[in-house]
Amino acid sequence: MLSRRIMLIYILLIVVIALASLFFLSLITRNTSTRVEKPSGGETNNNDVYTPLAKNYTLKSLADRLGLKIGTAISFSHFDDANYIETIVQEFNTVTPENEMKFVLIHPFPSIYTFSRADRIVEFAEKHGLKVRGHCLVWHQQLPDWITQGNFTREEWIQILRDHIMTVVSRYRGKVYAWDVVNEAVTENGYLRNSVWLRNIGPEYIELAFRLAHEADPNALLFYNDYGIESINRKSDGVYNLIKTLLKRGVPIHGVGFQMHISIERYPDPDSLAENIKRFRELGLQVEITEMDVSIPMPASNDELAKQAEIYKKIFKTYLDSAGPNTFIMWGFTDKYSWIPYTFSESGAALIFDEKYRTKPAYYALVEVLLEELDEISK
Ligand code: G3I
Repeated sequence: MLSRRIMLIYILLIVVIALASLFFLSLITRNTSTRVEKPSGGETNNNDVYTPLAKNYTLKSLADRLGLKIGTAISFSHFDDANYIETIVQEFNTVTPENEMKFVLIHPFPSIYTFSRADRIVEFAEKHGLKVRGHCLVWHQQLPDWITQGNFTREEWIQILRDHIMTVVSRYRGKVYAWDVVNEAVTENGYLRNSVWLRNIGPEYIELAFRLAHEADPNALLFYNDYGIESINRKSDGVYNLIKTLLKRGVPIHGVGFQMHISIERYPDPDSLAENIKRFRELGLQVEITEMDVSIPMPASNDELAKQAEIYKKIFKTYLDSAGPNTFIMWGFTDKYSWIPYTFSESGAALIFDEKYRTKPAYYALVEVLLEELDEISK
């Protein structure tokens, strides 16, 4: 009787151990299977043409090993999409709020600041150990009516700028590692844009903005950020000369952001990009890629997705070779929420995941560059 009981306990013990082993095995398998193993695809039908290059990696895991900030713009509006959140946390170590820190959303009325959306993003980033890039303090777009239609004296405009920058930067002091202090202030011809800030304060608004941001958070890196300045051209010459002058005057400016909104039909020549990065770095500045996407005329074919991947690869590689492992941020990651189709109805598919969160050839292009870099440094 006793030995039957012992036998029964023995069998029960074996069953429990077997079940526990199965459970742990499933946990391990889940942790090591990553997006990289999933088949790639784009807007189009044939998913078999692209072979995944690596297993058990994410962009983040590779970038972390290089000391590279790899990031994406994110929006609070999509926080209820579990795939969205899961992908951000798995793939990136840095985020930029796409709209939530812009003037119209964070400071909609003269003495009203609405921080809740931006706060949620910063809290999310803190919870998952992601760095936050602040975007943007002074811009000519996404401004509230009280600014665009404002009728104030120059002194009052300066006070508005002071109040805005001091309040926003102070709130995220120590939480936002870098700010796009001035965004898109230069025209294609290299002159200062005729914005509400230029008209009402004069060219000094730029210097003032940087000085105020520095006062509010002396440890934050302060950037001038723009599109179309990736190669050597009239616009980037204008930005270069502007920043050089500001630096001579002791203005606290630490870097320049190349937005890199490009398309498969129009993208920077890699040599010109390298030369441009070099000249800005020689001023003592950091150069970050801050908003990359590569749009395609819709619908995108497999050949176009392959071309897009090639462009992501060339730009990423040129950036790393010229700027070192610093910061590479894309303006979103899934075609599901990209700004491109809303603005250019004929274009889209600009990002590295498709609308169903499937990895596209461009994703593997970035993985390939990261693996090559890691290989280089291990030699
Ligand atoms: O939030 C409102 C919503 O309430 C309303 O129903 C809807 C109707 O149109 O508009 C919503 O606001 C939109 C906002 O994005 C949030 O989705 C604005 O209309 C729309 O203009 C705005 O577009 C943003 C655009 O900047 C504004 O110029 C894009 O999301 C954002 O990706 C884009 O980002 C810029 C960078 O800040 C600077 N560099 C270029 C980049 C791309 O344009």
